[in-house]
Amino acid sequence: MSNAVPVVETSLHNLQLVQRGKVRDVYKIDEDHLLIVATDRLSAFDCVLPTAIERKGEVLTALSEFWFKRLRHIVPHHLISTKLEEMPNVIRHEVTNLAGRSMYVRRTHVFPVECVVRGYLAGSGWKDYQRTGGVCGHRLQEGLREADELPEPIFTPATKAATGHDENISEAEMTHFVGAEVTRFLRDAALQLYKEAAGYARRRGIIIADTKFEFGQDRDGHILLIDEVLTPDSSRFWPADQYQPGRAQRSFDKQFVRDYLETLQWDKQPPAPPLPPAVAATTTTRYLEAYRMLTGSEL
Ligand SMILES: Nc1ncnc2c1ncn2[C@@H]1O[C@H](COP(=O)(O)OP(=O)(O)O)[C@@H](O)[C@H]1O
Ligand SMILES: [Mg+2]
Repeated sequence: MSNAVPVVETSLHNLQLVQRGKVRDVYKIDEDHLLIVATDRLSAFDCVLPTAIERKGEVLTALSEFWFKRLRHIVPHHLISTKLEEMPNVIRHEVTNLAGRSMYVRRTHVFPVECVVRGYLAGSGWKDYQRTGGVCGHRLQEGLREADELPEPIFTPATKAATGHDENISEAEMTHFVGAEVTRFLRDAALQLYKEAAGYARRRGIIIADTKFEFGQDRDGHILLIDEVLTPDSSRFWPADQYQPGRAQRSFDKQFVRDYLETLQWDKQPPAPPLPPAVAATTTTRYLEAYRMLTGSEL
């Protein structure tokens, strides 16, 4: 199901575009349904690159579908179908060349919180620990190194910033946004989803160091897992065979891109420079490899 050309941006004229995110173009089908198209856009150092990564949107879509199905005993999800033949006619006529990267989903009212779970000390968690001895208010033992596994995964929510960086908040602060009952529900669901997925991935050679879930509520009040799940874009994936705490870990998918960008004089402000074809091709291979390792099948 390979698309010959990378998809940088979609424009489906008969559908209403409601949002162009960093990676996904979201169309409203009706009050209760959306079409979410994962493009091949890639962001690095928080900038969307001008070079697209062929097949990346297919990998994100197929991997999310894999996890939605595998984890649905924990919490129900928004995905109705990724198959064009199972979508309404209005969509089918528009997206014939977007097979494999389109998700027909239940539209929800999105909770304004990123439900982050961390099993390892990395990124802003590592920075926080060095400064405070804990992460987002969770006290941790002394002497942990960068990338060390935590004794127990922790829930570290963040606000969904409309622009720029998300801001970490405590569980108590989260209750101001969604209430105490929903906070508890989302925390327990997120921790359970992470534990189950991370255990599975670890047995297949990938460490999921941390990840971010989003949840929403449908018209009937049901809480659904939405957006994308446990992809290299929403998570830190590390190759387990190269894991070595005490330093920054190589990222499974974007390392070649980051290494290449570090060789340039670029100040990491937009616009980002294009990638050489070889760097883009290697990145495609890495995304496909993550999919194969996790699911055991070829995309
Ligand atoms: N079922 C859903 N109902 C409503 N909104 C959703 C649903 N699933 C995903 N979304 C929203 O669609 C957008 C996906 O686009 P994406 O490119 O991931 O955006 P971002 O740049 O914010 O990460 C996100 O804003 C997400 O909250
Ligand atoms: Mg997103």
